[in-house]
Amino acid sequence: MAERGMGAASGQVPELVQKQTYWVKEVAKTPVIVKLTPNITDITLTAEAAVEGGADAISMINTINSLAAVDIDTWDTVPHVGGKGAHGGYCGPAVKPIALHMVGECARNPRIHVPISGIGGISNWQNAVEFMLMGATGVQVCTAAMHHGFRIVEDMIEGLNNYLDAKGIASVSDLVGKSVQKYSDWGDLDLNYKIVARINNDSCINCNKCHIACEDTSHQCIDMLKDDSGKSYLKVREEDCVGCNLCSIVCPVDGAIDMVEVKSGLPPMTWNERQAALGALACGVDPVPK
Ligand SMILES: Cc1cc2nc3c(=O)[nH]c(=O)nc-3n(C[C@H](O)[C@H](O)[C@H](O)COP(=O)(O)O)c2cc1C
Ligand code: SF4
Ligand code: SF4
Repeated sequence: MAERGMGAASGQVPELVQKQTYWVKEVAKTPVIVKLTPNITDITLTAEAAVEGGADAISMINTINSLAAVDIDTWDTVPHVGGKGAHGGYCGPAVKPIALHMVGECARNPRIHVPISGIGGISNWQNAVEFMLMGATGVQVCTAAMHHGFRIVEDMIEGLNNYLDAKGIASVSDLVGKSVQKYSDWGDLDLNYKIVARINNDSCINCNKCHIACEDTSHQCIDMLKDDSGKSYLKVREEDCVGCNLCSIVCPVDGAIDMVEVKSGLPPMTWNERQAALGALACGVDPVPK
């Protein structure tokens, strides 16, 4: 198993993760933290396997298989070794959302009941707080330390302390997992929760980016209108807005677009509840028993 690449390959097979963890635990004199690869469809399967093998903790994520670029003049991969390339490992801020999701998936899985060390794109104390809220009991920093040196850890500790003081929280452990119960499957989200975009014409600079974004890639519901003086302005047709957020993401002016919650007039209903009700109807059962 010492052969290069074997760790990454066997880390994708739950049975091997379980066996190797067990073997290591048989001889280990220190706690065993099993580091998991993100190059797998469902990281909870290998996380569960590590727990079954006796892991004291798990950590995630390692780097994501990637190819940085292709040189369009030489047609070589970037980087390359004498004209030949192989995949590298993607890391840093871009992988943070992937890592946070994987930590959250493990944290909300009752079969994964060991501490989780969160890794992936953590670059400041705010990122560390996010990982802890999503269930990590500790965090690790690689790329950011490579960029800024170990000093960044001191900055993170200072920022974290100030945050805890401001929130009146005694211990950093009290943060762990506080957002996990808010993290669910899409099928459990309320279909009738409605938010819409609202443009503040006082701060809008009429760059039109939101209009183009909604027109070309969303729901064509930002109208270009003229006021009494003939000056053009943008207005969202709220009945057609699906709250996709795209316009507010592309808007360059802070506060020019607010995403606001509006009453849909319908009771909360998730996709799963809707499917269950439809299934009951199909079977001739009243979905709302008297
Ligand atoms: C240059 C480099 C070398 C790495 N070497 C290892 C390694 O030998 N073993 C390992 O488990 N992870 C290794 N990693 C992965 C990091 O420990 C970390 O899991 C990953 O980079 C994500 O964290 P980050 O976004 O903070 O960099 C390496 C990462 C980089 C950038
Ligand atoms: S939130 Fe989406 S659908 Fe609504 S106006 Fe913006 S881009 Fe269009
Ligand atoms: S993107 Fe923002 S600033 Fe530009 S037109 Fe839309 S609301 Fe105004």
